[in-house]
Amino acid sequence: MAREQWGTRAGFILAAIGSAVGLGNIWRFPYVAYENGGGAFFLPYLFALLTAGIPLLIMEFTLGHKYRGSAPLSYARLHKKAEWIGWWQVAIAFVISTYYAVIIAWAIAYTYFAFNQSWGEDTGGFLMGEYLQRIDLSGGALGEVGSLVPGVFIPLLVVWAVTLGVLFKGVKRGIEMANRIFIPLLVVMFLLIVIRAITLEGALVGLDAFFAPNWSEIMSPGVWVAAYGQIFFSLSIAFAIMITYSSYLGKKSDINNNAFITGFSNSSFELLAGIGVFAALGFMATASGVGVDEVASAGIGLAFVVFPEIINTFPGMNGFFGVLFFGSLVLAGLSSLISIVETFVAGIQDKFKLSRTKAVAFGGGLSAVISLLFATQGGLFFLDTADYFINQFGVALAGLVSVIAVSWFIRKLPELQGHANGVSDFKTGLWWKVCLSIITPIVLGYMAIQNTITNIT
Ligand code: PHE
Ligand code: NA
Repeated sequence: MAREQWGTRAGFILAAIGSAVGLGNIWRFPYVAYENGGGAFFLPYLFALLTAGIPLLIMEFTLGHKYRGSAPLSYARLHKKAEWIGWWQVAIAFVISTYYAVIIAWAIAYTYFAFNQSWGEDTGGFLMGEYLQRIDLSGGALGEVGSLVPGVFIPLLVVWAVTLGVLFKGVKRGIEMANRIFIPLLVVMFLLIVIRAITLEGALVGLDAFFAPNWSEIMSPGVWVAAYGQIFFSLSIAFAIMITYSSYLGKKSDINNNAFITGFSNSSFELLAGIGVFAALGFMATASGVGVDEVASAGIGLAFVVFPEIINTFPGMNGFFGVLFFGSLVLAGLSSLISIVETFVAGIQDKFKLSRTKAVAFGGGLSAVISLLFATQGGLFFLDTADYFINQFGVALAGLVSVIAVSWFIRKLPELQGHANGVSDFKTGLWWKVCLSIITPIVLGYMAIQNTITNIT
């Protein structure tokens, strides 16, 4: 059977942007930038985007387009001994999917709570107490794996029904169609919140804190590592995803331009989120008479504790803006989850010559079942562990291995570049090879060593 294909170029770009724009943009980027030099962070960040983000995106798009396979198949066609790199990345994608789904489920529940702020005044107590029913995150709750948390269980079923439903329909009628709806809607909803946020009292205090450049910081290696780490996670590279999506491109699709468009759209969304989040934090800090530093945070705490609090104190239309915020998380998250699940679905589909239906039912089904564990009280403990493990060991190392293999062992950079330049308007030159064979391996190698040292000590 012929390989499926995107309907249009825009459809592919929207899907790639949909994968990139996710929870990482909304709750990770603003805090990472703030903690690592504020306005000064943009220098290492842009450097990382141009030396690693976009060059690697071009590499992954090229692998998928040239070899027309899921990540394991594309790596196998690149070199018969390289297939395992693809499987490693697929394995990372699989683990991420199991807990990414749970967070989207929480966001669905909170979209519902947002209507009349049923999280109450003590939003932290509500999350850990009523909503998650006093889970002992420090462990020791494993004995309660059997007891489901109903407020998580049903939204989680919704998450999987949508994701698997989309994937059953295939590349064009499923993935492309879903992103055509989700991404424009997400942009409009998110813009509305950002516009409202920057007109709140105290917004400027927050923006000042966010953009104030701390130039002395950018000499520290940690800041550069943070910039590269953010770019990798945020662009969904080294997760096999972009290889999978580009394997559905038509023969004559432009690769280099598509990579630039995807990279810059993702970064624009991050900047937008930074502005929105810090404007809102400035409002909250001002209202409660504390410094921005005291309310700034990231991750689950920012989204499910601080934001509900901000929405409680909103000067009107609280429900509306609450729904917009959590609705945005849901849309950004779902379009990313779809891409993660498609990655291992495509992997097993190619390997075992399965129909899409069977591969989705088996691969997606397995992830869904495992993720249900995270909807139990004991399972939530694993959520933290899985996230930590993936970010510490998985990503930098998988990225490192793939660039070194392609540029130094298999030595295919010139051939891949020729392929990409052959179909692209904009041609890459020496910088592309230098970035992938020298700069990126050095930075990723440093990150991998750093991670190992901090984990051992
Ligand atoms: N890029 C997504 C984000 O910024 C996260 C993601 C990671 C998506 C890995 C798919 C794979 O949130
Ligand atoms: Na992102």
